[in-house]
Amino acid sequence: MNKALVTLLLTLGISGLAHAAGDAAAGQGKAAVCGACHAPDGNSAAPNFPKLAGQGERYLLKQMKDIKAGMTAGAAEGTGRKVLEMTGQLDSLNDQDLADIAAYFAAQKMGVGAADPQLVEAGEALYRGGKLADGMPACTGCHSPNGAGNEQAAYPKLGGQHAQYVTKQLTDFREGVRTNDGDSMIMRSIAAKLSNKDIAAISSYIQGLH
Ligand code: HEC
Ligand code: HEC
Repeated sequence: MNKALVTLLLTLGISGLAHAAGDAAAGQGKAAVCGACHAPDGNSAAPNFPKLAGQGERYLLKQMKDIKAGMTAGAAEGTGRKVLEMTGQLDSLNDQDLADIAAYFAAQKMGVGAADPQLVEAGEALYRGGKLADGMPACTGCHSPNGAGNEQAAYPKLGGQHAQYVTKQLTDFREGVRTNDGDSMIMRSIAAKLSNKDIAAISSYIQGLH
């Protein structure tokens, strides 16, 4: 291979990396507007606004891109993820901005809530054991036993997330309102096996999980 080509490939490789990596310090300022709902450090107070603090960087970036795509005027049905509350919030942000914001929130620490003592047992059994008779796997395999998720695979952290928000997501997956789990439909097929009662128990358990 000639030297110029090697240099070119190296340069492309390096700039590719630089583009993908988020800068948490730069992200802090860019995330200021998000603080109104998600709180400046990503530990939102309102139970319908998800906590972003300590969430996996890859997962955060994927969701922001999905929400941006889903909220683009004229987006086809089923594209991305629709979050009406975030209308216009991501429009002026480019991929580097999104990567920086993801890095910033990922570097914060998610606070943990408390589970309803009445629901803990049922929630734990579902989270750790799944519903094998119905072919539903345990949540632990992907979201980990302590709810930390899997950063590399972009499986989200769940431990400490608001129960109300988790309930809405599981219901949205079940009803086909949230469809951005991709062609594998992992979460839609799992949520299809959950009753409202199951969802209430599992969401409460997740809120206190750490
Ligand atoms: C007016 C309130 C509001 C503002 C401002 C806002 N968001 Fe959101 N955001 C929401 C709501 C509500 C949801 C969850 C919607 C749902 O129930 O599916 C959400 C969801 C998200 C999610 C998905 C979280 C997850 O666990 O899947 C990300 C990531 C996110 N917002 C990032 C941002 C960023 C970055 C900004 C600033 C540029 C921002 N949001 C500004 C209300 C807001
Ligand atoms: C085979 C892997 C896998 C298993 C098993 C699994 N999940 Fe998930 N889950 C995912 C993936 C991947 C996503 C992210 C989808 C996307 O990109 O939007 C997700 C997303 C979620 C979300 C949305 C998080 C957020 O912040 O919006 C919730 C809630 C959730 N899963 C709960 C559960 C529960 C409860 C169980 C067990 C009953 C479970 N999952 C089992 C892979 C899995």
